[in-house]
Amino acid sequence: MTSVTLSSKNPTAVKAEALVVATAQTSDGVAIVSDQLPTDLLTQLESLAPQLGVTGARDEVRKIPAGPKLAVDILVLTGLGERAEDGTFATETLRRAAGAATRELAGLKSAAIALPASDDDEITAVTEGALLGAYVFNQYRSADRSTAKDSAKEAKNRKDPVATIEILTPLHKNAKAKVAAERAQVVAAAVHAARDLVNTAPNELYPATFADAAKTAAKDVRHVKVTVLDDKQLASGGYGGLTAVGQGSTRGPRLVKVAYTPAKPNGKVALVGKGITFDSGGISIKPAAGMEAMKSDMAGAAAVLSTVVAAAKLNLPLAITGYLCLAENMPGGNAQRPADVVTIYGGKTVEVLNTDAEGRVVMADGLVSAIEDGHDVVLDIATLTGAQVVALGTRTSAVMGTDAVRDEVKAAADATGELFWPMPLPEELKTNIKSKVADVANSGPRWGGMLNAGLFLQTFVGDHPWAHLDIAGPAFNDGGGHGYTPGGGTGVGVRTLLGFLEGRAAAE
Ligand code: BES
Ligand code: MN
Ligand code: ZN
Repeated sequence: MTSVTLSSKNPTAVKAEALVVATAQTSDGVAIVSDQLPTDLLTQLESLAPQLGVTGARDEVRKIPAGPKLAVDILVLTGLGERAEDGTFATETLRRAAGAATRELAGLKSAAIALPASDDDEITAVTEGALLGAYVFNQYRSADRSTAKDSAKEAKNRKDPVATIEILTPLHKNAKAKVAAERAQVVAAAVHAARDLVNTAPNELYPATFADAAKTAAKDVRHVKVTVLDDKQLASGGYGGLTAVGQGSTRGPRLVKVAYTPAKPNGKVALVGKGITFDSGGISIKPAAGMEAMKSDMAGAAAVLSTVVAAAKLNLPLAITGYLCLAENMPGGNAQRPADVVTIYGGKTVEVLNTDAEGRVVMADGLVSAIEDGHDVVLDIATLTGAQVVALGTRTSAVMGTDAVRDEVKAAADATGELFWPMPLPEELKTNIKSKVADVANSGPRWGGMLNAGLFLQTFVGDHPWAHLDIAGPAFNDGGGHGYTPGGGTGVGVRTLLGFLEGRAAAE
Protein backbone atom coordinates (compact mmCIF):
# COMPACT_ATOMS: atom_id res chain seq x y z
CA MET A 1 0.00 0.00 0.00
CA THR A 2 0.99 3.60 -0.51
CA SER A 3 2.92 4.90 2.49
CA VAL A 4 1.72 8.09 4.10
CA THR A 5 3.29 10.59 6.51
CA LEU A 6 2.08 13.82 8.08
CA SER A 7 4.34 16.79 7.45
CA SER A 8 4.33 20.51 8.17
CA LYS A 9 6.31 21.47 5.08
CA ASN A 10 5.23 24.49 3.15
CA PRO A 11 3.54 23.52 -0.14
CA THR A 12 5.85 25.92 -1.97
CA ALA A 13 8.95 24.18 -0.68
CA VAL A 14 7.83 20.56 -0.54
CA LYS A 15 9.78 18.29 -2.84
CA ALA A 16 7.79 15.60 -4.62
CA GLU A 17 6.73 14.77 -8.15
CA ALA A 18 3.28 16.22 -7.63
CA LEU A 19 1.50 18.63 -5.31
CA VAL A 20 -2.25 18.32 -4.80
CA VAL A 21 -4.16 21.53 -4.08
CA ALA A 22 -7.91 22.05 -3.78
CA THR A 23 -10.08 24.29 -5.90
CA ALA A 24 -13.51 25.61 -4.94
CA GLN A 25 -16.42 27.26 -6.67
CA THR A 26 -17.12 30.82 -5.59
CA SER A 27 -19.69 33.40 -6.65
CA ASP A 28 -17.17 34.98 -9.04
CA GLY A 29 -15.37 31.89 -10.34
CA VAL A 30 -12.71 29.59 -8.99
CA ALA A 31 -10.69 29.88 -5.79
CA ILE A 32 -7.54 27.94 -5.01
CA VAL A 33 -7.99 26.70 -1.43
CA SER A 34 -4.58 27.52 0.02
CA ASP A 35 -3.22 30.29 2.15
CA GLN A 36 0.36 29.15 1.73
CA LEU A 37 0.97 29.26 -2.02
CA PRO A 38 2.52 32.52 -3.29
CA THR A 39 -0.17 35.13 -4.01
CA ASP A 40 0.99 35.79 -7.56
CA LEU A 41 0.70 32.09 -8.37
CA LEU A 42 -2.79 31.97 -6.84
CA THR A 43 -3.89 35.01 -8.83
CA GLN A 44 -2.46 33.55 -12.02
CA LEU A 45 -4.16 30.18 -11.53
CA GLU A 46 -7.48 31.74 -10.62
CA SER A 47 -7.50 34.02 -13.62
CA LEU A 48 -6.43 31.27 -16.03
CA ALA A 49 -8.94 28.81 -14.59
CA PRO A 50 -11.56 29.19 -17.38
CA GLN A 51 -8.94 28.57 -20.11
CA LEU A 52 -7.60 25.58 -18.18
CA GLY A 53 -11.10 24.15 -17.92
CA VAL A 54 -10.94 24.37 -14.12
CA THR A 55 -14.27 25.14 -12.46
CA GLY A 56 -13.65 23.94 -8.90
CA ALA A 57 -16.57 21.51 -9.14
CA ARG A 58 -16.60 18.39 -7.00
CA ASP A 59 -14.87 15.38 -8.60
CA GLU A 60 -13.00 17.58 -11.08
CA VAL A 61 -9.27 16.84 -11.28
CA ARG A 62 -6.79 18.68 -13.54
CA LYS A 63 -3.03 18.10 -13.82
CA ILE A 64 -0.87 20.99 -15.00
CA PRO A 65 2.87 21.75 -15.07
CA ALA A 66 3.79 23.32 -11.75
CA GLY A 67 6.02 26.08 -13.09
CA PRO A 68 9.19 27.60 -11.56
CA LYS A 69 7.62 28.84 -8.30
CA LEU A 70 7.14 25.36 -6.87
CA ALA A 71 9.57 22.54 -6.07
CA VAL A 72 7.29 19.91 -7.68
CA ASP A 73 6.85 19.03 -11.36
CA ILE A 74 3.11 18.60 -11.48
CA LEU A 75 0.32 20.55 -9.84
CA VAL A 76 -2.89 18.61 -9.35
CA LEU A 77 -6.05 20.65 -8.83
CA THR A 78 -8.89 18.75 -7.19
CA GLY A 79 -12.37 20.25 -6.85
CA LEU A 80 -14.32 20.70 -3.62
CA GLY A 81 -17.36 22.49 -5.02
CA GLU A 82 -18.93 25.25 -2.95
CA ARG A 83 -18.08 25.97 0.67
CA ALA A 84 -20.72 25.23 3.29
CA GLU A 85 -22.29 28.26 4.98
CA ASP A 86 -19.76 28.14 7.81
CA GLY A 87 -16.95 28.36 5.28
CA THR A 88 -15.77 24.76 5.65
CA PHE A 89 -16.09 21.68 3.46
CA ALA A 90 -17.82 18.47 4.52
CA THR A 91 -15.35 15.75 5.51
CA GLU A 92 -16.78 13.45 2.82
CA THR A 93 -16.06 16.18 0.25
CA LEU A 94 -12.42 16.24 1.38
CA ARG A 95 -12.25 12.43 1.32
CA ARG A 96 -13.58 12.32 -2.24
CA ALA A 97 -11.35 15.12 -3.49
CA ALA A 98 -8.25 13.51 -2.01
CA GLY A 99 -9.17 10.17 -3.57
CA ALA A 100 -10.06 11.63 -6.96
CA ALA A 101 -6.58 13.22 -6.97
CA THR A 102 -4.64 10.11 -5.94
CA ARG A 103 -6.46 8.01 -8.57
CA GLU A 104 -4.80 10.38 -11.07
CA LEU A 105 -1.38 9.95 -9.46
CA ALA A 106 -0.95 6.27 -10.38
CA GLY A 107 2.47 5.72 -11.92
CA LEU A 108 4.17 8.43 -9.81
CA LYS A 109 6.55 7.81 -6.96
CA SER A 110 5.77 10.71 -4.64
CA ALA A 111 3.15 13.35 -3.96
CA ALA A 112 2.30 15.93 -1.34
CA ILE A 113 -1.30 16.79 -0.52
CA ALA A 114 -2.20 20.28 0.65
CA LEU A 115 -5.93 19.97 1.33
CA PRO A 116 -7.63 21.43 4.41
CA ALA A 117 -6.27 19.29 7.30
CA SER A 118 -6.43 21.34 10.45
CA ASP A 119 -8.29 19.00 12.83
CA ASP A 120 -8.36 15.21 13.30
CA ASP A 121 -11.62 14.79 11.36
CA GLU A 122 -10.11 16.52 8.35
CA ILE A 123 -6.87 14.56 8.70
CA THR A 124 -8.86 11.31 8.84
CA ALA A 125 -10.84 12.27 5.75
CA VAL A 126 -7.86 13.40 3.68
CA THR A 127 -5.69 10.43 4.67
CA GLU A 128 -8.48 7.89 4.13
CA GLY A 129 -9.51 9.44 0.83
CA ALA A 130 -5.92 9.63 -0.44
CA LEU A 131 -5.22 5.99 0.42
CA LEU A 132 -8.60 4.72 -0.82
CA GLY A 133 -8.02 6.45 -4.16
CA ALA A 134 -4.46 5.08 -4.39
CA TYR A 135 -5.60 1.60 -5.35
CA VAL A 136 -4.91 -0.33 -8.52
CA PHE A 137 -5.62 -4.01 -9.04
CA ASN A 138 -2.66 -5.20 -11.10
CA GLN A 139 -2.49 -8.81 -10.03
CA TYR A 140 -3.24 -10.19 -13.46
CA ARG A 141 -1.19 -7.79 -15.56
CA SER A 142 1.74 -9.67 -16.93
CA ALA A 143 4.38 -7.21 -15.69
CA ASP A 144 3.55 -8.65 -12.30
CA ARG A 145 4.37 -12.16 -13.47
CA SER A 146 7.87 -13.56 -13.74
CA THR A 147 6.87 -14.84 -17.18
CA ALA A 148 6.61 -11.35 -18.71
CA LYS A 149 8.86 -11.34 -21.76
CA ASP A 150 9.43 -7.64 -22.09
CA SER A 151 8.95 -6.37 -18.59
CA ALA A 152 9.96 -2.76 -19.33
CA LYS A 153 7.26 -2.50 -21.98
CA GLU A 154 4.70 -4.29 -19.84
CA ALA A 155 5.45 -2.02 -16.90
CA LYS A 156 4.38 0.97 -18.97
CA ASN A 157 0.95 -0.56 -19.34
CA ARG A 158 0.71 -1.13 -15.68
CA LYS A 159 0.70 1.87 -13.42
CA ASP A 160 1.11 1.19 -9.75
CA PRO A 161 -0.48 3.45 -7.14
CA VAL A 162 1.62 6.45 -6.08
CA ALA A 163 4.29 5.08 -3.74
CA THR A 164 4.50 7.76 -1.04
CA ILE A 165 2.24 10.57 0.07
CA GLU A 166 2.95 13.45 2.45
CA ILE A 167 -0.14 15.03 3.96
CA LEU A 168 0.65 18.65 4.73
CA THR A 169 -0.90 19.72 8.04
CA PRO A 170 -0.03 22.12 10.85
CA LEU A 171 -0.89 19.24 13.24
CA HIS A 172 1.83 16.89 12.04
CA LYS A 173 3.19 16.46 15.58
CA ASN A 174 -0.14 16.38 17.37
CA ALA A 175 -0.74 13.01 19.07
CA LYS A 176 -4.45 12.81 18.16
CA ALA A 177 -3.66 13.66 14.54
CA LYS A 178 -1.12 10.86 14.41
CA VAL A 179 -3.64 8.41 15.84
CA ALA A 180 -6.15 9.58 13.22
CA ALA A 181 -3.66 9.02 10.41
CA GLU A 182 -2.70 5.59 11.73
CA ARG A 183 -6.33 4.57 12.02
CA ALA A 184 -6.95 5.77 8.47
CA GLN A 185 -4.15 3.51 7.27
CA VAL A 186 -5.69 0.48 8.98
CA VAL A 187 -9.10 1.33 7.51
CA ALA A 188 -7.73 1.81 4.00
CA ALA A 189 -5.74 -1.42 4.17
CA ALA A 190 -8.96 -3.21 5.16
CA VAL A 191 -10.90 -1.70 2.26
CA HIS A 192 -8.08 -2.58 -0.15
CA ALA A 193 -8.05 -6.18 1.10
CA ALA A 194 -11.80 -6.47 0.52
CA ARG A 195 -11.43 -5.01 -2.99
CA ASP A 196 -8.60 -7.44 -3.77
CA LEU A 197 -10.78 -10.41 -2.83
CA VAL A 198 -13.67 -9.13 -4.97
CA ASN A 199 -11.36 -8.50 -7.93
CA THR A 200 -9.70 -11.91 -7.72
CA ALA A 201 -10.88 -14.16 -10.54
CA PRO A 202 -13.40 -16.81 -9.49
CA ASN A 203 -11.28 -19.65 -10.89
CA GLU A 204 -8.74 -18.70 -8.23
CA LEU A 205 -11.04 -17.57 -5.42
CA TYR A 206 -13.50 -20.30 -4.44
CA PRO A 207 -14.66 -21.40 -0.99
CA ALA A 208 -11.52 -23.38 -0.07
CA THR A 209 -9.10 -20.66 -1.25
CA PHE A 210 -11.23 -17.95 0.38
CA ALA A 211 -10.88 -19.89 3.64
CA ASP A 212 -7.11 -19.95 3.08
CA ALA A 213 -7.18 -16.19 2.44
CA ALA A 214 -8.95 -15.73 5.78
CA LYS A 215 -6.22 -17.67 7.55
CA THR A 216 -3.54 -15.63 5.80
CA ALA A 217 -5.26 -12.33 6.66
CA ALA A 218 -5.55 -13.31 10.33
CA LYS A 219 -2.02 -14.67 10.62
CA ASP A 220 0.01 -12.74 13.21
CA VAL A 221 -2.99 -10.60 14.17
CA ARG A 222 -3.33 -10.76 17.94
CA HIS A 223 -6.42 -12.43 19.44
CA VAL A 224 -7.84 -13.53 16.07
CA LYS A 225 -8.64 -17.17 15.45
CA VAL A 226 -9.96 -18.69 12.22
CA THR A 227 -11.90 -21.95 12.14
CA VAL A 228 -13.14 -23.62 8.98
CA LEU A 229 -16.00 -26.09 8.52
CA ASP A 230 -15.54 -27.94 5.23
CA ASP A 231 -18.26 -29.48 3.05
CA LYS A 232 -18.33 -32.77 4.95
CA GLN A 233 -18.53 -31.07 8.32
CA LEU A 234 -21.28 -28.77 7.02
CA ALA A 235 -23.36 -31.69 5.73
CA SER A 236 -22.99 -33.73 8.91
CA GLY A 237 -23.45 -30.66 11.11
CA GLY A 238 -26.84 -29.84 9.61
CA TYR A 239 -25.88 -26.73 7.63
CA GLY A 240 -28.40 -27.55 4.93
CA GLY A 241 -28.35 -24.12 3.27
CA LEU A 242 -24.62 -23.99 2.51
CA THR A 243 -24.69 -27.65 1.55
CA ALA A 244 -27.60 -27.25 -0.89
CA VAL A 245 -26.23 -24.15 -2.60
CA GLY A 246 -22.71 -25.57 -2.80
CA GLN A 247 -23.60 -29.01 -4.11
CA GLY A 248 -23.77 -28.02 -7.79
CA SER A 249 -20.10 -27.10 -7.76
CA THR A 250 -17.10 -29.41 -7.71
CA ARG A 251 -15.61 -26.96 -5.21
CA GLY A 252 -17.43 -27.49 -1.96
CA PRO A 253 -18.81 -24.88 0.45
CA ARG A 254 -17.14 -23.65 3.64
CA LEU A 255 -18.29 -21.84 6.77
CA VAL A 256 -15.40 -19.80 8.10
CA LYS A 257 -15.52 -18.26 11.56
CA VAL A 258 -13.12 -15.40 12.19
CA ALA A 259 -13.17 -14.71 15.90
CA TYR A 260 -11.51 -11.71 17.50
CA THR A 261 -11.50 -12.08 21.27
CA PRO A 262 -9.62 -9.35 23.15
CA ALA A 263 -8.69 -9.84 26.80
CA LYS A 264 -11.61 -7.99 28.39
CA PRO A 265 -14.35 -7.59 25.81
CA ASN A 266 -17.29 -5.48 26.87
CA GLY A 267 -19.70 -6.68 24.24
CA LYS A 268 -20.13 -9.34 21.62
CA VAL A 269 -21.00 -8.67 17.99
CA ALA A 270 -21.53 -11.07 15.08
CA LEU A 271 -20.96 -10.13 11.44
CA VAL A 272 -22.33 -12.53 8.84
CA GLY A 273 -21.21 -12.17 5.22
CA LYS A 274 -22.52 -13.62 1.96
CA GLY A 275 -19.65 -15.33 0.19
CA ILE A 276 -20.91 -16.73 -3.10
CA THR A 277 -17.59 -16.88 -4.93
CA PHE A 278 -19.47 -17.08 -8.22
CA ASP A 279 -23.20 -16.83 -8.75
CA SER A 280 -24.21 -18.42 -12.05
CA GLY A 281 -27.76 -18.69 -10.73
CA GLY A 282 -27.49 -22.49 -10.60
CA ILE A 283 -30.21 -24.42 -12.43
CA SER A 284 -32.23 -21.17 -12.52
CA ILE A 285 -29.29 -19.91 -14.56
CA LYS A 286 -28.64 -16.22 -15.16
CA PRO A 287 -28.46 -14.68 -18.64
CA ALA A 288 -24.92 -14.52 -20.08
CA ALA A 289 -24.77 -10.72 -20.38
CA GLY A 290 -23.09 -9.27 -17.31
CA MET A 291 -22.71 -12.61 -15.56
CA GLU A 292 -19.00 -11.90 -15.04
CA ALA A 293 -19.92 -9.32 -12.39
CA MET A 294 -21.14 -12.22 -10.26
CA LYS A 295 -17.56 -12.87 -9.17
CA SER A 296 -18.37 -10.02 -6.76
CA ASP A 297 -21.13 -12.01 -5.03
CA MET A 298 -18.74 -12.65 -2.13
CA ALA A 299 -18.28 -8.94 -1.34
CA GLY A 300 -20.20 -9.24 1.93
CA ALA A 301 -17.90 -11.97 3.21
CA ALA A 302 -14.87 -9.98 2.05
CA ALA A 303 -16.10 -6.94 3.98
CA VAL A 304 -16.66 -9.05 7.10
CA LEU A 305 -13.19 -10.62 6.99
CA SER A 306 -11.49 -7.26 6.47
CA THR A 307 -13.54 -5.61 9.20
CA VAL A 308 -12.76 -8.22 11.86
CA VAL A 309 -9.05 -8.05 11.07
CA ALA A 310 -9.09 -4.24 11.15
CA ALA A 311 -11.02 -4.19 14.45
CA ALA A 312 -8.33 -6.44 15.93
CA LYS A 313 -5.55 -4.21 14.62
CA LEU A 314 -7.30 -1.24 16.22
CA ASN A 315 -7.59 -3.18 19.51
CA LEU A 316 -11.32 -2.51 19.84
CA PRO A 317 -12.56 -3.73 23.24
CA LEU A 318 -15.30 -5.88 21.71
CA ALA A 319 -15.51 -9.57 20.92
CA ILE A 320 -16.36 -9.87 17.24
CA THR A 321 -17.04 -13.00 15.24
CA GLY A 322 -17.23 -12.98 11.47
CA TYR A 323 -19.15 -15.75 9.74
CA LEU A 324 -18.18 -16.18 6.10
CA CYS A 325 -20.86 -18.18 4.28
CA LEU A 326 -18.88 -19.47 1.31
CA ALA A 327 -20.24 -21.44 -1.65
CA GLU A 328 -20.10 -21.46 -5.42
CA ASN A 329 -23.54 -21.45 -7.06
CA MET A 330 -23.24 -23.62 -10.15
CA PRO A 331 -25.51 -25.79 -12.25
CA GLY A 332 -24.32 -29.38 -12.31
CA GLY A 333 -25.48 -32.96 -12.08
CA ASN A 334 -25.76 -32.71 -8.36
CA ALA A 335 -27.04 -29.13 -8.21
CA GLN A 336 -30.15 -28.33 -6.20
CA ARG A 337 -33.38 -28.05 -8.15
CA PRO A 338 -36.30 -25.65 -7.95
CA ALA A 339 -38.76 -27.56 -5.69
CA ASP A 340 -36.06 -28.97 -3.42
CA VAL A 341 -36.69 -28.58 0.28
CA VAL A 342 -33.65 -27.99 2.45
CA THR A 343 -33.25 -27.86 6.20
CA ILE A 344 -31.34 -24.87 7.52
CA TYR A 345 -29.07 -25.16 10.56
CA GLY A 346 -31.41 -25.20 13.57
CA GLY A 347 -34.23 -27.05 11.81
CA LYS A 348 -36.35 -24.61 9.78
CA THR A 349 -37.16 -25.80 6.25
CA VAL A 350 -36.92 -23.83 3.00
CA GLU A 351 -38.55 -24.61 -0.31
CA VAL A 352 -36.13 -23.61 -3.05
CA LEU A 353 -38.31 -22.09 -5.75
CA ASN A 354 -35.45 -20.35 -7.50
CA THR A 355 -31.85 -21.53 -7.20
CA ASP A 356 -30.69 -17.99 -8.04
CA ALA A 357 -32.05 -16.79 -4.68
CA GLU A 358 -29.11 -18.62 -3.09
CA GLY A 359 -27.64 -15.88 -0.95
CA ARG A 360 -30.44 -15.87 1.60
CA VAL A 361 -30.20 -19.68 1.85
CA VAL A 362 -26.50 -19.68 2.82
CA MET A 363 -27.01 -16.62 5.03
CA ALA A 364 -29.75 -18.45 6.96
CA ASP A 365 -27.20 -21.04 8.14
CA GLY A 366 -24.79 -18.26 9.14
CA LEU A 367 -27.41 -16.22 10.98
CA VAL A 368 -28.74 -19.15 13.00
CA SER A 369 -25.20 -20.17 13.87
CA ALA A 370 -24.33 -16.61 14.96
CA ILE A 371 -27.40 -16.34 17.17
CA GLU A 372 -26.71 -19.74 18.70
CA ASP A 373 -23.20 -18.54 19.64
CA GLY A 374 -24.73 -15.72 21.72
CA HIS A 375 -24.10 -12.17 20.49
CA ASP A 376 -25.54 -8.84 21.66
CA VAL A 377 -26.21 -7.89 18.07
CA VAL A 378 -25.96 -9.54 14.66
CA LEU A 379 -25.21 -7.63 11.45
CA ASP A 380 -25.29 -9.30 8.08
CA ILE A 381 -23.98 -7.94 4.82
CA ALA A 382 -24.73 -9.35 1.39
CA THR A 383 -24.96 -8.64 -2.32
CA LEU A 384 -28.43 -10.06 -1.91
CA THR A 385 -30.87 -8.72 -4.50
CA GLY A 386 -31.08 -7.17 -7.93
CA ALA A 387 -34.09 -5.35 -6.48
CA GLN A 388 -31.72 -3.40 -4.22
CA VAL A 389 -30.05 -1.96 -7.32
CA VAL A 390 -33.42 -1.16 -8.89
CA ALA A 391 -34.58 0.65 -5.75
CA LEU A 392 -31.44 2.57 -4.75
CA GLY A 393 -29.05 2.46 -7.68
CA THR A 394 -25.41 1.50 -7.74
CA ARG A 395 -24.07 3.86 -5.08
CA THR A 396 -26.52 3.62 -2.19
CA SER A 397 -26.82 0.48 -0.09
CA ALA A 398 -29.87 -0.56 1.91
CA VAL A 399 -30.19 -1.34 5.60
CA MET A 400 -33.09 -3.17 7.23
CA GLY A 401 -33.57 -4.77 10.63
CA THR A 402 -34.73 -4.10 14.16
CA ASP A 403 -35.33 -0.35 14.44
CA ALA A 404 -32.54 0.63 16.83
CA VAL A 405 -29.81 -1.43 15.17
CA ARG A 406 -30.87 -0.31 11.71
CA ASP A 407 -30.63 3.33 12.83
CA GLU A 408 -27.27 2.67 14.47
CA VAL A 409 -25.92 1.30 11.17
CA LYS A 410 -27.33 4.27 9.26
CA ALA A 411 -25.66 6.69 11.67
CA ALA A 412 -22.34 4.85 11.38
CA ALA A 413 -22.60 4.96 7.58
CA ASP A 414 -23.37 8.70 7.61
CA ALA A 415 -20.38 9.41 9.82
CA THR A 416 -18.00 7.48 7.62
CA GLY A 417 -19.23 8.77 4.27
CA GLU A 418 -20.76 5.55 2.92
CA LEU A 419 -24.26 5.91 1.45
CA PHE A 420 -26.87 3.72 3.15
CA TRP A 421 -30.64 4.14 3.24
CA PRO A 422 -33.15 2.51 5.64
CA MET A 423 -35.74 0.16 4.19
CA PRO A 424 -38.81 -1.35 5.90
CA LEU A 425 -39.64 -4.99 6.58
CA PRO A 426 -43.43 -4.82 6.18
CA GLU A 427 -45.26 -7.55 8.03
CA GLU A 428 -47.87 -7.88 5.28
CA LEU A 429 -45.27 -8.89 2.68
CA LYS A 430 -44.56 -12.08 4.60
CA THR A 431 -47.21 -13.79 2.49
CA ASN A 432 -44.81 -13.30 -0.45
CA ILE A 433 -42.44 -15.93 0.91
CA LYS A 434 -45.04 -18.42 2.08
CA SER A 435 -44.36 -21.94 0.89
CA LYS A 436 -47.00 -24.53 0.05
CA VAL A 437 -44.83 -27.28 1.50
CA ALA A 438 -42.10 -25.89 3.77
CA ASP A 439 -41.70 -23.29 6.55
CA VAL A 440 -40.69 -20.62 4.08
CA ALA A 441 -39.96 -20.21 0.34
CA ASN A 442 -36.70 -18.73 -0.90
CA SER A 443 -38.32 -16.41 -3.41
CA GLY A 444 -41.56 -14.65 -4.10
CA PRO A 445 -43.06 -12.12 -6.48
CA ARG A 446 -40.72 -9.65 -8.13
CA TRP A 447 -42.22 -6.59 -6.45
CA GLY A 448 -40.51 -5.68 -3.22
CA GLY A 449 -37.75 -8.19 -3.99
CA MET A 450 -35.28 -6.58 -1.58
CA LEU A 451 -37.83 -6.60 1.23
CA ASN A 452 -38.86 -10.20 0.51
CA ALA A 453 -35.22 -11.20 0.94
CA GLY A 454 -34.96 -9.17 4.16
CA LEU A 455 -38.12 -10.82 5.50
CA PHE A 456 -36.72 -14.25 4.59
CA LEU A 457 -33.61 -13.53 6.69
CA GLN A 458 -35.78 -12.19 9.52
CA THR A 459 -37.44 -15.62 9.71
CA PHE A 460 -34.12 -16.98 10.98
CA VAL A 461 -33.29 -14.08 13.30
CA GLY A 462 -36.60 -13.68 15.11
CA ASP A 463 -36.59 -10.54 17.24
CA HIS A 464 -32.88 -10.64 18.06
CA PRO A 465 -31.20 -7.21 17.64
CA TRP A 466 -30.15 -7.34 14.00
CA ALA A 467 -29.52 -5.39 10.83
CA HIS A 468 -29.22 -6.58 7.25
CA LEU A 469 -27.09 -4.60 4.80
CA ASP A 470 -27.87 -5.20 1.10
CA ILE A 471 -24.87 -3.95 -0.91
CA ALA A 472 -25.79 -5.55 -4.28
CA GLY A 473 -25.33 -2.36 -6.32
CA PRO A 474 -22.46 -0.56 -4.55
CA ALA A 475 -20.19 -3.61 -4.04
CA PHE A 476 -18.95 -3.68 -7.62
CA ASN A 477 -18.32 -0.68 -9.86
CA ASP A 478 -18.91 -1.65 -13.48
CA GLY A 479 -17.89 1.77 -14.74
CA GLY A 480 -14.89 4.04 -14.31
CA GLY A 481 -13.60 5.35 -11.00
CA HIS A 482 -15.17 8.26 -9.13
CA GLY A 483 -13.98 10.05 -6.02
CA TYR A 484 -11.98 7.53 -3.98
CA THR A 485 -13.82 4.60 -5.58
CA PRO A 486 -12.03 2.63 -8.30
CA GLY A 487 -13.62 0.45 -10.97
CA GLY A 488 -14.22 -3.16 -9.88
CA GLY A 489 -14.55 -4.14 -6.23
CA THR A 490 -15.27 -1.13 -4.03
CA GLY A 491 -14.84 -2.55 -0.52
CA VAL A 492 -18.17 -1.00 0.46
CA GLY A 493 -19.37 -1.83 3.94
CA VAL A 494 -15.99 -2.09 5.63
CA ARG A 495 -16.03 1.52 6.85
CA THR A 496 -19.65 1.36 7.99
CA LEU A 497 -19.14 -1.92 9.86
CA LEU A 498 -15.97 -0.60 11.49
CA GLY A 499 -17.67 2.66 12.40
CA PHE A 500 -20.54 0.69 13.94
CA LEU A 501 -18.09 -1.39 16.00
CA GLU A 502 -16.12 1.67 17.09
CA GLY A 503 -19.37 3.29 18.19
CA ARG A 504 -20.30 0.21 20.22
CA ALA A 505 -16.80 -0.02 21.72
CA ALA A 506 -16.96 3.63 22.82
CA ALA A 507 -20.48 3.35 24.24
CA GLU A 508 -19.89 0.31 26.43
N1 BES B 1 -26.33 -12.16 -6.34
C1 BES B 1 -27.64 -11.88 -6.78
C2 BES B 1 -28.07 -10.43 -6.53
C3 BES B 1 -27.31 -9.37 -7.29
C4 BES B 1 -27.85 -8.85 -8.45
C5 BES B 1 -26.15 -8.85 -6.80
C6 BES B 1 -27.18 -7.85 -9.12
C7 BES B 1 -25.48 -7.85 -7.48
C8 BES B 1 -26.00 -7.34 -8.63
C9 BES B 1 -28.64 -12.79 -6.06
O1 BES B 1 -28.17 -14.03 -5.69
C10 BES B 1 -29.78 -13.01 -6.98
O2 BES B 1 -29.56 -13.58 -8.00
N2 BES B 1 -30.97 -12.57 -6.58
C11 BES B 1 -32.13 -12.72 -7.37
C12 BES B 1 -33.23 -13.19 -6.47
C13 BES B 1 -34.50 -13.60 -7.18
C14 BES B 1 -34.26 -14.84 -8.01
C15 BES B 1 -35.59 -13.82 -6.18
C16 BES B 1 -32.47 -11.38 -7.96
O3 BES B 1 -32.35 -10.37 -7.26
O4 BES B 1 -32.82 -11.32 -9.14
MN1 MN C 1 -28.31 -15.46 -7.24
ZN1 ZN D 1 -26.14 -14.18 -5.38
